[in-house]
Amino acid sequence: MTTSDRRGGAPPGSAFVWVWLPGASDPVVTGRIDSVGDSYTFTYGRSYLARDEAIPLYLPELRLGPGRIQPPDGLTIAGCLRDAGPDAWGQRVILARRLGHLDASSDTGTLSTLTYLLESGSDRIGGLDFRHSATDYIPRSADHSTLEQMQDAAERLNAGETLPPALADALLRGTSIGGARPKVTLLDSDGHPVIAKLSTQTDPYPSVKFEAAAMTLAGRVGIDVAPTRLIRSSDRDVLLVDRFDRPGDGQRKLMVSALTILGLDELTGARYGSYIHLADQIRARFRDPIPTLTKLFRRVVFNVCVSNSDDHARNHSAFWDGEWLTLTPAYDIAPGLRSGDTSAQAMALTRDGRRASRLALCRESARDYLLDPDQANRVIDEVVAGIETHFEEAAELARLTGTDRDQFRRLVLHPSIHYPE
Ligand SMILES: Nc1ncnc2c1ncn2[C@@H]1O[C@H](COP(=O)(O)OP(=O)(O)OP(=O)(O)O)[C@@H](O)[C@H]1O
Ligand SMILES: [Mg+2]
Repeated sequence: MTTSDRRGGAPPGSAFVWVWLPGASDPVVTGRIDSVGDSYTFTYGRSYLARDEAIPLYLPELRLGPGRIQPPDGLTIAGCLRDAGPDAWGQRVILARRLGHLDASSDTGTLSTLTYLLESGSDRIGGLDFRHSATDYIPRSADHSTLEQMQDAAERLNAGETLPPALADALLRGTSIGGARPKVTLLDSDGHPVIAKLSTQTDPYPSVKFEAAAMTLAGRVGIDVAPTRLIRSSDRDVLLVDRFDRPGDGQRKLMVSALTILGLDELTGARYGSYIHLADQIRARFRDPIPTLTKLFRRVVFNVCVSNSDDHARNHSAFWDGEWLTLTPAYDIAPGLRSGDTSAQAMALTRDGRRASRLALCRESARDYLLDPDQANRVIDEVVAGIETHFEEAAELARLTGTDRDQFRRLVLHPSIHYPE
């Protein structure tokens, strides 16, 4: 944080972007983001362009070459840079660190994108970091808070209490991860990097436990899913999710969200995000497109089956190796409360934009995943049967109580998923 940032002075005008190149344990500086009017340009540095191993940070957004690169049409900053910054939760923490606390009038829109990129923790998702310096890489956050301290801080922030500076620092580690729910990054007891998703007193239903159960079920029905385990800490449930962007030896994998792959921003993403457009991109720009399309189809069917209607375009991602994309393991499969038969997916299920949570729509769009009707039905049958078979085991592993279990049961394989559209 610069002195002017800390005082809430002029927002920063530029930031240097550091990257962990594939296989490297240390970052190199790659270029600079500049604030120009209402948007942000990116310029590759000469030293980066001169490297034999230089790769574009993401295509088609940031092609290698000299000169300023404007963000794609409709975006204020390249999606691959935005993806590496904080989202609703991280922005709230950064604002709370500034203001001491948050209340109903606190507006995360008052701080600039660059402020959020520079003030968030360095252990961010993917293989980028943002620093004031182009010469020395000094990561942000050497905080040694315990999980209990971080939970305490998250609880106080949600309750609108003033955060003492030490507790505000405890949350810094969660600021660079996207998403809206309270979370932090840490090393688990075996030293593996994990995301800890926290439950809070104000949760309207046991969402962390439901996510644990749904992630277990996803794995059981053949979805490549980030491994999770549920722990208790400070008398609350915490879901530890193994990070797939940290392959070991200090390496970091570059990642982009489906929002970026589809060239959308948060607002238009909610309206235009579509599984069918993602399938089109898989055909054009992913390694191994044919098995990947089946993988995506299985995830879509599963989301419909478990009432995961929060399946927006930031909840799907791909690794980027400089040339091609590869789907990451699935994450954030979180059954949400539904009212009766009406439920809709966040991303459209059909090319004409229909979203109703119906397996009939999955069948109808199977061709877009290069599946014939028999193949599509086989995937659907496997998912439905697998959920039935493993329901009790998943409920047990997630330590659902009788009431939780009944509530979860009503969300999973709801009869309406079988209705015609
Ligand atoms: N296992 C993982 N490894 C690496 N990155 C991950 C992993 N799980 C999630 N992420 C990244 O962290 C971000 C936030 O995680 P997640 O989506 O689980 O949070 P959330 O708060 O529940 O999100 P939402 O706002 O969608 O409810 C994701 O968008 C993704 O970029
Ligand atoms: Mg999410």
